[in-house]
Amino acid sequence: MASVTASDRTTDRIIEPASRLAGELRLPGDKSISHRALMLALLAAGTSRITGAGDGADVRSTAGIAETLGATVARRADASGNVDYLVSSPGTAEGLRQPDASLDCGNSGTSMRLFAGVLAGQPIRAILDGDASLRRRPMARIVRPLRAMGAWLEGMAGDKPPLIVVGRRPLKAITWTPEVPSAQVKSAILLAGLGADGTTRVRESVATRDHTERMLRARGVAVRATAGEGGGAIVEIDGGVPLRAVDELVPGDPSAAAFWLVAGAIQAEARLRIRDVGVNPTRRGFLDVLLRMGARIEETGPGSDDAVGEPVADVSVESSDLEAVELVPAETASAIDEIPVLCLAATQARGRSVIRGVGELRHKESDRVAGIVDGLRALGARINVDGDDIVIDGPVELRGAAVDSLGDHRLAMTFAIAGLIAQGRTTIRGADSVSISYPTFFADLERIRS
Ligand code: S3P
Repeated sequence: MASVTASDRTTDRIIEPASRLAGELRLPGDKSISHRALMLALLAAGTSRITGAGDGADVRSTAGIAETLGATVARRADASGNVDYLVSSPGTAEGLRQPDASLDCGNSGTSMRLFAGVLAGQPIRAILDGDASLRRRPMARIVRPLRAMGAWLEGMAGDKPPLIVVGRRPLKAITWTPEVPSAQVKSAILLAGLGADGTTRVRESVATRDHTERMLRARGVAVRATAGEGGGAIVEIDGGVPLRAVDELVPGDPSAAAFWLVAGAIQAEARLRIRDVGVNPTRRGFLDVLLRMGARIEETGPGSDDAVGEPVADVSVESSDLEAVELVPAETASAIDEIPVLCLAATQARGRSVIRGVGELRHKESDRVAGIVDGLRALGARINVDGDDIVIDGPVELRGAAVDSLGDHRLAMTFAIAGLIAQGRTTIRGADSVSISYPTFFADLERIRS
């Protein structure tokens, strides 16, 4: 399966202001859950059905790697742009298949970091590689714990990818405290912990998204989570338990919903309804921030079982009068992927908003602090950086300009939503980066605008 690389993402897109937003949306399947469903289907012997997976380039990278490592992956597109996968795998009893070329993670940090955890406990050698953006991202955060468990890992350029992984079976169980709150780091350690002798523990200062834990439990693995100090969590997994193949229904991606919820709140005439959005408590931080700002958002649901599956709700939004907001670092961490679009919301809110502890945003698909500040400033926003805080004064009337997405999907979508309320036309450079997580984004935008 071919991946989309940063150098392909060069197309400009022009957004004209909208007079009205109205309609109903179905979103791409949650990216985090789609990745994990494919990886766990590779690890489980038997056939797993994944319904409604996202079809962005990142998830395709993971599907391609699962295939290379020994799974048979059949895909069928559904009517809303998502994909149903049927994955058959021999599981890990004999070990995963030794790859004969490097594994291409494309733009996807989740693919690289979680597969590093998977491969650490396998008796094989692999190279995890990616595009120019991924090659700039830090990997020491997973290399150090996986080495402590007994695997051999080395970046080709310090702690940067390509990443060579020589797995070992069994691994040693460890207790690890990641230096930054990161679901990717926690998940890499838990996935390695499947192949460890004994109980592996991760101590988090801020509880991060818990999809890996929920999905492992649903596959028969004992994962225990207890509250840690000050909003943190301690997660434990027992090694040596084979995974059961199960079916997974992927909810709509809340991180994709965030763009439409902000769009509806800041557009003068708007009424949008979004179906089947994942509202897992560890993912809904941005929703609670928007509610605190006074956004007129309503949730119907949550529908499904919150204990093992994922809670899902229909969410609607109407034009709102927003008030400024302050986020403490733990809130920023819990809304990490939605901070760019929350910055846009803050430009339309009355008063001074302060988003504290944004340091991690410098290490995402781009330096999102620089990207969001430069882009929103070009559109006329009053936005500044003070150390690790972003400070925004509002409300400000935005005016169209040329803005650079830096090849980053979440920046491209944020600027497109800004373009809907800006005076005049907004040109987004590198707009096709939306295909990383939301290939139908511009089609959806055209459908709901007038
Ligand atoms: C993700 C975790 C987050 C997030 C990323 C997806 C995941 O990264 O930014 O888009 O699926 O686990 P970190 O855990 O590194 O913050």
